[in-house]
Amino acid sequence: MNRLALYANQLAHHLTITDNRTGKTIEVPISTSRESDFIHATKLGALQYQGQPLRVYDPGYMNTICCTSKISYIDGDKGILEYRGIPIEELAEKSTFVEVAYLLINGELPSKSQLQEWDEKLRKHTFIHTDASQMMKSFRYDAHPMGMLISTLAAISTFHPEVNPALAGEGVYKNKDIVNKQIYRILGSLPTIASNSFRNRIGREHNMPHENMSYVENFLYMLDKLNEKEYKPHPKITRALEVLFILHAEHELNCSTAFVRHLSSSGVDIYTAIAGAAGALYGPKHGGANEAVLRMLEEIGDLKNIPQFIKDVKDRKKLLMGFGHRVYKNYDPRAKIVKQIAYQVFEITGKEPLIEIAIELEKIALSDPYFIQRKLYPNVDFYSGVIYRALGFPTDMFPVLFTIPRVAGWLAHWKEYLNDKENNIVRPRQNYVGPEKRNYVPVEQRKEFPIYLESNKSSRQKRRETATLS
Ligand code: ACO
Repeated sequence: MNRLALYANQLAHHLTITDNRTGKTIEVPISTSRESDFIHATKLGALQYQGQPLRVYDPGYMNTICCTSKISYIDGDKGILEYRGIPIEELAEKSTFVEVAYLLINGELPSKSQLQEWDEKLRKHTFIHTDASQMMKSFRYDAHPMGMLISTLAAISTFHPEVNPALAGEGVYKNKDIVNKQIYRILGSLPTIASNSFRNRIGREHNMPHENMSYVENFLYMLDKLNEKEYKPHPKITRALEVLFILHAEHELNCSTAFVRHLSSSGVDIYTAIAGAAGALYGPKHGGANEAVLRMLEEIGDLKNIPQFIKDVKDRKKLLMGFGHRVYKNYDPRAKIVKQIAYQVFEITGKEPLIEIAIELEKIALSDPYFIQRKLYPNVDFYSGVIYRALGFPTDMFPVLFTIPRVAGWLAHWKEYLNDKENNIVRPRQNYVGPEKRNYVPVEQRKEFPIYLESNKSSRQKRRETATLS
């Protein structure tokens, strides 16, 4: 269809809405896209009543498009995921994480020389400031690695005040070189920050990045090298983690990616925005799900306990973690690949016993009407935790292993957001149902309303409360 015909076709599609409060009729054009047709919510504002525009109500963004993007495409019903148009299955088979990051952030696959330059730029930024490394050492011995990662990312913004919009001015990110530099710094240093958080947990010194290793290989090296002269991670383990990184790199407007755009809309520096998004990803309903899956599998503990667990899920006492997805109403295409990787990893590490529980759980869930009716299928996190466990990662490192690659997607969205003519500060509206206007009442004249103010108390606090105070 030529552009004129397309335009005419778009004009032809519209909603005719009559407001029966006022009798006013408006025509709202329907825009078309590969994913879904849509209308602009602001057009409904023309339907005014008692001086108020009509708004749409959509908690949880169940049916709201909030930006135009070219980065990834999902067809949740068919189980399709593409990065910049390229199917995830092809990328998982043929590409590397560094190349995928380039594709996501810059829009095209790199030429040989572009890839080399990109790779070198990332390598150059693998070192972090010694003060940042020192700061990481001051976390408590049992600090959750995500807590360390999030705090360090936010702290790193203080090392680069010259590119912080709060200090250098709002327009600082209009400079493309500055934007690129922050991308190299963040992507380059993430494996270092992540491995430092792991080294803290195991009580070992932080390792320096290796100059001759690939992105993923260097990450494994920094995690694991002790006193060996030459330490080289197993190539199959490196590749397995690389594929997991590719699968986790981007997933359009999930909770954390939407948050990057949300935070960036305030003009905050990109380190703080990435730290905030990492906070969103940490939650058990999102990137913390792989950790939650593992804890769930451990809790089930034995095949014989699965029927009771499924019953508890159906009675709504529990969630089947690693199942269900806001967008996929079919088998998550990433979950299929992750399941294959699990077996490749087991060939090297030996079988992780929890896989038996996971497979049986999947079998039962996929044949149970409760899950079938609700279109609940395994998502990417269902098997990834089992692989991480087989690879010897402590459970609390799992969301870190998700965050490293997802930062590529976040940075792609940040760059896209910065160049988006429609970008504006994100500011949803609310449906206020609180009290009508009323006057402040002096404390002596107030009626007491029963409000629950208790908080939990430790035994130590209870003991302290028995003491005589003077
Ligand atoms: N276990 C049991 N029931 C579930 C599950 C689950 N994991 N997920 C959804 N349901 C049920 C809901 O109870 C609801 O049932 P109802 O219609 O009878 O009330 C129905 O399926 C629809 O669920 P919603 O909550 O409306 O689905 P939504 O799209 O809002 O939630 C989500 C998606 C948050 C991922 C949810 O499926 C979930 O909590 N899953 C478990 C956590 C998880 O694995 N998260 C990782 C997601 S992938 C990622 O972020 C990388």
